[in-house]
Amino acid sequence: MKALLKWGLYLLSALFVLIAGLLIYIQNAWNRTFDVPLDETFQVVLTPEAVENGRYLVYGPAHCAYCHAAKDLWPALDAGEYVPLSGGYYWDFEIGRITSPNLTPDPETGIGDYTDAELKRALRANVSQKGRALFPLMDFHQISDQDIHDIIAYIRSQPPVVNEVADNQFNLLGKAIMSFGIGPVDWGMDAPRYRPAGGDLITYGAYLANNVTACMACHTKRDLKDGSYIGERFAGGFPMQSSEPGMVYVTPNITPDPETGIMFGWTEDAFVHRFLAGRVYADSPMPWAAYARMTDEDLRAIYAYLMSLEPVRNDIGPIYTAAK
Ligand code: HEC
Ligand code: HEC
Repeated sequence: MKALLKWGLYLLSALFVLIAGLLIYIQNAWNRTFDVPLDETFQVVLTPEAVENGRYLVYGPAHCAYCHAAKDLWPALDAGEYVPLSGGYYWDFEIGRITSPNLTPDPETGIGDYTDAELKRALRANVSQKGRALFPLMDFHQISDQDIHDIIAYIRSQPPVVNEVADNQFNLLGKAIMSFGIGPVDWGMDAPRYRPAGGDLITYGAYLANNVTACMACHTKRDLKDGSYIGERFAGGFPMQSSEPGMVYVTPNITPDPETGIMFGWTEDAFVHRFLAGRVYADSPMPWAAYARMTDEDLRAIYAYLMSLEPVRNDIGPIYTAAK
């Protein structure tokens, strides 16, 4: 009996040491940096064409503005204004509060002292200027070199705005996930990526929907703890926060499934009209007005691609509902 008690105590203290060790590790590791090489040859040239295309991408299809401007600027964005990318939008997730950085060229509070290569690496490889893994809300890893170039040209051309944004506030779960689950994305430094050209709408639409507009990123079920994709692509079912406590939006299935696909039966014109009309739910996280700024050609390419997908049967239930 006594021996048993002794062993029990040993085990308990070993467990305690293990847990304490783990906690100490997490307190240091969540913020660790990674040595991801920079594309030092990459240099942005601010031609008027590059800045113009970059602005189109930032406020339109790539909707950087919707995440890199505070929520109270959304009405101005929805009204078609070009508000500064001064950061401060935040998300309260189960893992803590994530705040978007200021992307205007202010050297103290913005990206003024970042190099072009550092900005490119953030988008391609998901690491910050300092080399820390970014919480994976952005999925632009496969966007073309040309588009990255133009986006950065636009970012550099904005007037600087002094706006100090809060640091991310990860709780213990968040720090544990950042320590073990999240790192750089391996995008292959040497592979240049071109925007598909040559008039094939489906290929171009695939590029937009997967790599630029992020339709895939929201219309696929994901694990909110680490951002990983756990559902069939474009089949919806991803619950997203509403500003009403306890309520969520569930993203619809946008594959052409006759029974459960929300777009089944939509003509190309109906799709374009829907996108030009903008949001129905005032509070929807979908950046409707950004997509309403898209060219007709870009919208039609996305439609062609979505209609070409393999239908996936997935009944998401009500779009706006109580959180489970
Ligand atoms: C869905 C929301 C979202 C979208 C869309 C988005 N961002 Fe971000 N971005 C974030 C968040 C959140 C962070 C900070 C993540 C963190 O700190 O871990 C971030 C970080 C960054 C950083 C890293 C800065 C640093 O600290 O080194 C850059 C650069 C950046 N974004 C540029 C862009 C550009 C350019 C676009 C459009 C092509 C864009 N973002 C679109 C949410 C978004
Ligand atoms: C930030 C997340 C997000 C992104 C990005 C996003 N969506 Fe959505 N989408 C939603 C949510 C949430 C809803 C449900 C609420 C609503 O209708 O606004 C929705 C609704 C829809 C609907 C149903 C509209 C209706 O009239 O019932 C369609 C179609 C759609 N999205 C297509 C797309 C396409 C195409 C893209 C890319 C160009 C896209 N979404 C990008 C989150 C997103």
